[in-house]
Amino acid sequence: MDQSEKKLNAAKASLEYIQNGIILGVGTGSTVDFLIDLLPSIRNKIEAVVSSSAETKARLEKHGFEVSMLNQVGDVDLYIDGADEATKHLHLIKGGSGALTREKVLAGAARKFVCIIDDSKLVGMLGTFPLPIEVIPMAQAFVARQLLKLRGQPIWRENFVTENGNHILDVHNLTISNPLETETRLNQFPGVLTVGIFSHRPADVLLIADNSGVRTIGQ
Ligand code: 5RP
Repeated sequence: MDQSEKKLNAAKASLEYIQNGIILGVGTGSTVDFLIDLLPSIRNKIEAVVSSSAETKARLEKHGFEVSMLNQVGDVDLYIDGADEATKHLHLIKGGSGALTREKVLAGAARKFVCIIDDSKLVGMLGTFPLPIEVIPMAQAFVARQLLKLRGQPIWRENFVTENGNHILDVHNLTISNPLETETRLNQFPGVLTVGIFSHRPADVLLIADNSGVRTIGQ
């Protein structure tokens, strides 16, 4: 089974978590795109939908959904998103497509966070995937120097500006043996807006699609 088929299967499995009258938060990425394309089949269950990026908003609108602002709806009942890496402890690295700040806000505002991945994303320890960090532009070099002191190798994501007008540093070779500690530590650098480790607000449920089906961790 190829990766796209697995992504579709993970997305299909997440539909089970969508209850009647739901306020749904939708993440960003190719796995979530499969979910968005399935949402018209359960349109009647969805009271309101909130998006983590312009890309997701456009895809939702293409399917005829009116996309609400988080400020209008209050908290989100359920947030569904993909990840770049995930552990069995439900800790994640996110931000591969640069939407990590809005994704983290929606995860934080959600009563339940369901993360959908194919099995290539499941890792023993986070950090093989370069860790995205959103920084305000004037702090980019300063934050990069702090990351070098931690033995990370920050690479500026060139020609990329986030929806918040900021830059992304992709940090290679960081040892993330304690995601909670690393997330806290990196959050302290002035100029850092968002660290792509999701461990203080981890997923509640991880749906992992592999060749034999979809496995669930969490509840
Ligand atoms: C975007 C993300 C995505 O969830 C992550 O990059 C996974 O993407 P895909 O589903 O395309 O593999 O965090 O900021």
